[in-house]
Amino acid sequence: MCGIFAYLNYNVARERRYILEVLFNGLRRLEYRGYDSAGISVDSSYFYVGCEDHCGNSCKPLPPLVFRQEGNIDSLVRSVYEEVATTDLNLEESFPIHAGIAHTRWATHGEPAPRNSHPQSSGSENDFLVVHNGVITNYEVLKETLVRHGFTFESETDTEVIPKLAKFVFDKANEGEGDQTVTFSQVVIEVMRHLEGAYALIFKSRHYPNELIACKRGSPLLLGVKELNEDKGTGASFHDVKFLTNSGQPKELFFSSDAQALVEHTKKVLVIEDGEVVHLKDGDVTILKFDNDKGKSKGGHTRPASVQRALSVLEMEVEQINKGKYEHYMQKEIHEQPESLTTTMRGRLIRGGSCKAKSVLLGGIKDHLKTIRRSRRIVFIGCGTSYNAALASRPILEELCGIPVTMEIASDLLDRLGPIYREDTVVFVSQSGETADTLLALEYALENGALCVGITNTVGSAIARNTHCGVHINAGCEIGVASTKAYTSQIVVMVMLALAIGDDTISNQTRRESIIDGLFELPSKVREVLKLDQEMKDLAKELMSEQSLLVFGRGYNYATALEGALKVKEVALMHSEGILAGEMKHGPLALVDENLPIVVIATHDACFSKQQSVIQQLHARKGRLIVMCSKGEASLVCPGGSCRVIEVPQVVDCIQPVVNIVPLQLLAYHLTVLRGYNVDQPRNLAKSVTTQ
Ligand code: F6R
Repeated sequence: MCGIFAYLNYNVARERRYILEVLFNGLRRLEYRGYDSAGISVDSSYFYVGCEDHCGNSCKPLPPLVFRQEGNIDSLVRSVYEEVATTDLNLEESFPIHAGIAHTRWATHGEPAPRNSHPQSSGSENDFLVVHNGVITNYEVLKETLVRHGFTFESETDTEVIPKLAKFVFDKANEGEGDQTVTFSQVVIEVMRHLEGAYALIFKSRHYPNELIACKRGSPLLLGVKELNEDKGTGASFHDVKFLTNSGQPKELFFSSDAQALVEHTKKVLVIEDGEVVHLKDGDVTILKFDNDKGKSKGGHTRPASVQRALSVLEMEVEQINKGKYEHYMQKEIHEQPESLTTTMRGRLIRGGSCKAKSVLLGGIKDHLKTIRRSRRIVFIGCGTSYNAALASRPILEELCGIPVTMEIASDLLDRLGPIYREDTVVFVSQSGETADTLLALEYALENGALCVGITNTVGSAIARNTHCGVHINAGCEIGVASTKAYTSQIVVMVMLALAIGDDTISNQTRRESIIDGLFELPSKVREVLKLDQEMKDLAKELMSEQSLLVFGRGYNYATALEGALKVKEVALMHSEGILAGEMKHGPLALVDENLPIVVIATHDACFSKQQSVIQQLHARKGRLIVMCSKGEASLVCPGGSCRVIEVPQVVDCIQPVVNIVPLQLLAYHLTVLRGYNVDQPRNLAKSVTTQ
């Protein structure tokens, strides 16, 4: 949901072309967050930016350049180079210091068009420029006020009020003065006082050349620090350094919506917290803490305190964010599931021994297990695929923990303001850890006093930070907009959660041990099921012209039906519906004829015989069946070979959904390629839904 990025080189000469490429690459890494338009801002010339000694007394900094383009990053890149070619801008011009900002957009307010793209500007002189991820909820009121003060607006965005407000604050503070009397951070903090909603913002200003300011509330934002000639520097260690005050040291500084756009430059990052204002100036990084409420309660403005924070080191490799030998990220992420699952389980499964039972160790929740066991119920909250993963895990939680488990789609819980009690344990499942609905549901559960547990793939994300405890799924970066490897890792984490919570019940020991044995074997079983790739491609060829596909599942695999159908609809843009097989006779059966393809999941578990009778009933209506069954059981699900069969390796029932989803992920992938759609950037979608 929009990606923002900035690059500031300090005391190190960088050519214009290099600066542009760093900004473009940053945007390419963030493109999964939105790809309907993009933009950047850079300076027109170093000599007229700072104006020291270069242009006489009368000069004032030239307005920064702004390039904005509808479409994806490649169209922006093309249009920037085309435009540059028509001017006297020199791509080889060197900047010893330069501050550039960039944005990739998923439209919320206003259609994808250059005027609605970011950077949004304060006016024709580009005094203030802003890139924004989030939504400003009170923008209409602010806009009315600014219009009354003579501002004119060119976009339909909520963002445009921000640079205009900055100009208003700046002009007011400098009324009657020759020189500027306010600092950049004072301007930004004053702007923040007026903003409501969620945002991560980066400001660039003609009045503060070579400086950048970022701030955030709600939406994610990181600072990346790359000190050049580090060895010759102060010798300070980044693990404990408060902040870089060695101003003269050449360095490159970055802001980014996520770590993926930083890792190729540096692993030293700061996860910016809500209310922090990070100011880059003269090679220094200053962090101020802005607390709107304090200011209000005292009826005046509190002076933001300067804070000291330590950098952390990213545990991410550049290879993780490249496609490697694969054509698409989704394809890569499907195929790397044996490895991602191994990483998810690493160090968490205890093999046991002669006098020690096999068990599970989840460090992030171990101190809260007693409270969880005493809860009145466990409530799972998530959206989309994350919700489906929780649904897949519900039966084993109920079985092993004996605690009622309820499921909530985050937006629906918020619409109803459904009851959450202080005796509840509420588990928030989210790959990104930033999904707006899930985050709001978290706020709601915290207000109601529940114990909140986070299950996310993103260390330092809002859900990871704001829950009482949690488990990281450690699936590695997921870049394809359609979630695949995060889904299987989420299920495994929730199965491990069930094992950990239920660990105090002796009667379930044998069952728990068989599940742990199954988990150890799971990566190899997933490797085996991935061999169905060609078979799924062939099936996709048969189905590629269909209008619709139904997927029937039940028990552990009701979630598989929902998730398989979600994958097909979101990437292959084919209507698809996951149906609870037990509901078949209550309506869906009417759809069945010899044309409509239906996938029935009938792997061997406690529901198997019920699924056999579903197959018979569908068969009796001449249904066009594709049955997924356990290896060696084709004749049990499809007597006489009358239907198409997908045979998958059998594993313990509660982790069978991990195996079963893989052929459906492959099917969705191949259908998408064959139908000619963009696999990694499905129409109208974006990863990390940070707006409601
Ligand atoms: C579908 C998909 C979405 C996400 C949903 C929640 O493939 O990716 O349905 O699962 O937007 O996102 P997270 O898990 O980041 O909260």
